[in-house]
Amino acid sequence: MSGPLDPSRRPGPRPEGPPPPGDALTPASLQRFLRSAVFGHRIFYYPSIGSTNDRALELAAAEEPEGGLVLAEEQTSGRGRRERVWWSAPYAGIYASLILRPAMPATRAPLLTFMAAVAVADALNELTGLKARIKWPNDVLVGGRKIAGVLGEVRGNDPEVREMVVGVGVNVNHAAADFPVALRDTATSVFLERGAPQDRAPLLASLLEGFERRYARLLRDGPVTLLREWESLSALAPGAALAVAGPDGRIEGTFAGIDDEGGLILLDAAGQRVRLPFGEILEMPRS
Ligand code: BTN
Repeated sequence: MSGPLDPSRRPGPRPEGPPPPGDALTPASLQRFLRSAVFGHRIFYYPSIGSTNDRALELAAAEEPEGGLVLAEEQTSGRGRRERVWWSAPYAGIYASLILRPAMPATRAPLLTFMAAVAVADALNELTGLKARIKWPNDVLVGGRKIAGVLGEVRGNDPEVREMVVGVGVNVNHAAADFPVALRDTATSVFLERGAPQDRAPLLASLLEGFERRYARLLRDGPVTLLREWESLSALAPGAALAVAGPDGRIEGTFAGIDDEGGLILLDAAGQRVRLPFGEILEMPRS
């Protein structure tokens, strides 16, 4: 197969040589599109870094104010949830970590990662025409394959969250060859779905603006609107049969919603309501 839908075709010359100037996601290219008031205005930009989350946690510890953004073209030790590697092909994705100072109870911190997933799905739907959906807690899927993920990390063990980093990885211009073979059936990118490259700067700007707007609303009004939005973007239908790795191991049941701290509610085989504060869906109906 050849042409724009050929999944082995790359949208631009990477990673064999330096990217063409228009292809970098620099602070200047982002600022041309930025509509947020604070988020993403102080940018720490790296052509290559271990992990943007690690750098943002260092900056947060050094009193960097809320809204500071660590942005990289490549991560050599990108981290995902549950100690997985986040594959970060150079100049292909969005690898960004935002510093937050929410002063909210630690039990509510998962809501901020939910919020990032909602902002990512919304920005993808608006700018690319794709139909992105969220798999609890905060994986973003297109056609059942993962296109983006969120890693939220709180500094310290206080009952109140004083500093938090929310890292977002979005597969934008990845060709199939940019993913390791083991991920090719489960991962996708905007380029693979649409058959055309996507400029990363407007996508990140839209994500930051959507995140900031929802953050202000959450702190002001509480989580009701966010949870409603999350449900409207959920890849899970009520009653869907799920197998989940929760805090106490594997559990099976049917999806009965999420609560106002982002916990997953299942009905088990006996019809009992079970709440999972965190975990990972192992099996769900294919969309
Ligand atoms: C997941 O789905 O497992 C979460 C993936 C989060 C990846 C992003 S990329 C930017 C930031 N830096 C990291 O090391 N991880 C997050």
